Amino acid sequence: MNNTILVTGGAGFIGTNFVLQWIANTEARVVNLDLLTYAGNRRNLQSVENDPRHIFVHGNICDDALIASLLKQHQPRAILNFAAESHVDRSISGPAAFIQTNIFGAFTLLEQARVYWDSLEPEAKTAFRFLHVSTDEVYGTLQPEDPAFQETTPYAPNSPYAASKASSDMLVRAWHHTYGLPVLTTNCSNNYGPWQFPEKLIPLTILNALEGKPLPVYGDGLNVRDWLFVEDHCAAISRVLEEGRPGETYNVGGNSERRNIDVVTTICDILDELQPDSAIGTRRKLITYVKDRPGHDRRYAIDAEKISKELGWHPAQQFESGIHRTVEWFLAHRNWVDEVRSGAYHEWIEQNYAGRFAQ
Ligand code: NAD
Ligand code: DAU
Repeated sequence: MNNTILVTGGAGFIGTNFVLQWIANTEARVVNLDLLTYAGNRRNLQSVENDPRHIFVHGNICDDALIASLLKQHQPRAILNFAAESHVDRSISGPAAFIQTNIFGAFTLLEQARVYWDSLEPEAKTAFRFLHVSTDEVYGTLQPEDPAFQETTPYAPNSPYAASKASSDMLVRAWHHTYGLPVLTTNCSNNYGPWQFPEKLIPLTILNALEGKPLPVYGDGLNVRDWLFVEDHCAAISRVLEEGRPGETYNVGGNSERRNIDVVTTICDILDELQPDSAIGTRRKLITYVKDRPGHDRRYAIDAEKISKELGWHPAQQFESGIHRTVEWFLAHRNWVDEVRSGAYHEWIEQNYAGRFAQ
């Protein structure tokens, strides 16, 4: 049987880590479709650029003719949809792109997958999977004493980003229920690690702290996220792809709840140790509380018992070691950082933070 998979969004943060891990750990081919938005970077994939098992295609998941031709040409045994607009703050200032890619793009992929799957021979048809990479934000927000999100927790998305992901999850569910398409959905908590675009809390804090800039903490800094090292998320996706039951959803999380302020102080302390700078001094003094994110979810926490019991997946990396590795990675990849922080990046930072500091 053809061992090719089609990955979308494989030049972004999690997609890059997945493609690199997949190429390293399997014999299979990956067709990697990515629009190369501000968040996608081909340089991430330099180490597999000349590997015949990695085929990069520059294109949009909303382009049905392109998807149809890729499926016809490569006959993949699975489609893994990572492609999305992924930053909550951007979804607040400009939701249209989130509706387009996250909802219409998912719909386009599902429709083309359905047509392709219908055309397959019985063995290939049975083996085919459509894996949709989603988020814990679809469940909304938790109070401090609430139990963690389970797969049965009702959806209650609060941001345009979360609503767009929830919509795509519902489409995936419907394509299974109505057409029988063998789908799998993963709902994961906050990822961190190599190749993360420096608009998100952890890489932004690392780089600002390194450069002696203010470290913006939204609101009171007591919002809680459940952090997972990105390579553990990629391993979970591989497990779900190979062993997950079609039609099921799997929550993925690191069992590492941390308050934002604690994440930021941890990064400050690691950098003070690894890269002391007498001109900057103690990095904790760079912490600046700024105007909160509108509708800011207070707490996320994942109950990962289902994937752990059914598929034997457990995170390998603890938060303390994972964050150390991540800081070291950013210190060793300053050229990558310079490249991704283009003019458009600076415009975003200006737009998102200008009004916040003046609270
Ligand atoms: P990212 O923003 O770093 O990367 C997204 C990638 O998708 C980029 O390479 C971009 O160029 C590509 N893309 C965007 N629009 C596209 C389109 N229309 N067609 C083709 N490619 C397009 O995102 P990420 O953090 O790597 O997240 C990947 C997936 O995982 C997303 O679906 C996200 O919702 C989900 N997720 C992320 C996290 C997290 O903490 N980052 C946690 C749980 C789930
Ligand atoms: O939970 C999974 C989600 O995690 C993914 O689906 C999203 O794609 C991903 O972006 C992430 O969403 P968050 O909004 O939780 O991540 P972000 O890094 O933007 O923010 C993490 C927390 O830190 C959040 O409570 C907001 C806060 N924050 C963020 C930034 C960028 C700050 O305090 N200051 C900042 O400058």
